Amino acid sequence: MPLGVFDSGIGGLTVVRALRSAFPRRDILYVGDTARVPYGNKSAETVTTYSREIIHFLKKKGADRIVVACNTASALAVGKLRESAAVPLHGMIESGVEAVLAVGGDGPVGVIGTAATVASGAYQAALSHVRPEWKILAQPTPLLAALVEESWLEGEVTEKVVRHYLEPMMREKIRVLVLACTHYPLLKGVFRKVLGSEVALVDSSEACAKSLESTETKVLEKGELKIYLSDEPGPFFGRVENFLGSGSVGSIQRIVLESVG
Ligand code: DGL
Repeated sequence: MPLGVFDSGIGGLTVVRALRSAFPRRDILYVGDTARVPYGNKSAETVTTYSREIIHFLKKKGADRIVVACNTASALAVGKLRESAAVPLHGMIESGVEAVLAVGGDGPVGVIGTAATVASGAYQAALSHVRPEWKILAQPTPLLAALVEESWLEGEVTEKVVRHYLEPMMREKIRVLVLACTHYPLLKGVFRKVLGSEVALVDSSEACAKSLESTETKVLEKGELKIYLSDEPGPFFGRVENFLGSGSVGSIQRIVLESVG
């Protein structure tokens, strides 16, 4: 049975990369809702409705477990989605928090993501739940996804934007920065340059793959990656395909998502 993975668009293929590296033999069905991206400026109600349609699609295709690769959907909708999913759903937040705890130590933690992810307070609440004494600094960083989609993965402008967003956290001497958005693994070089080596980066895609290690069983055949998109992939697809590695994508198909009542 394949593993289902979905995102608002194709940024969630960063999570697929981490999953394929951890479980190379697992078949993966990926849905990118390219017709309705971005989710990061939408309401919880809308994101929940869209996510339900995708889960319905993935279940019909046989997925026995579903990864909500989109941090925004994880923050806004996972609780509600679990009520009706009838298959195990893995969001980004629990695994992100586990990864922060694995870094060890004490002190302020920074979280960056879409406006909706930060406004939901989901990461802040989950971190405060396990470490009430920690200061959590959360910052919406909406320009970063746009920079990544334009392939501005380094250079003066991108560094300035990142510095502008992170300066308040740097003043508070954060110890860990959670990259709570599908697109941010592609900017790791810039984060490293701006923050230096003292601050640990928690990549939510890697954290998710790690947290699935205990539930995933090993199978023998080579895994295949099938991608379903609700609209054209767009120019950003080439960049993400490179990130995945050549020959990784088995097939790409255009789909229409049905509304579910
Ligand atoms: N995939 C979204 C996330 O991880 C970023 C893009 C969007 O706003 O839809 O939050």
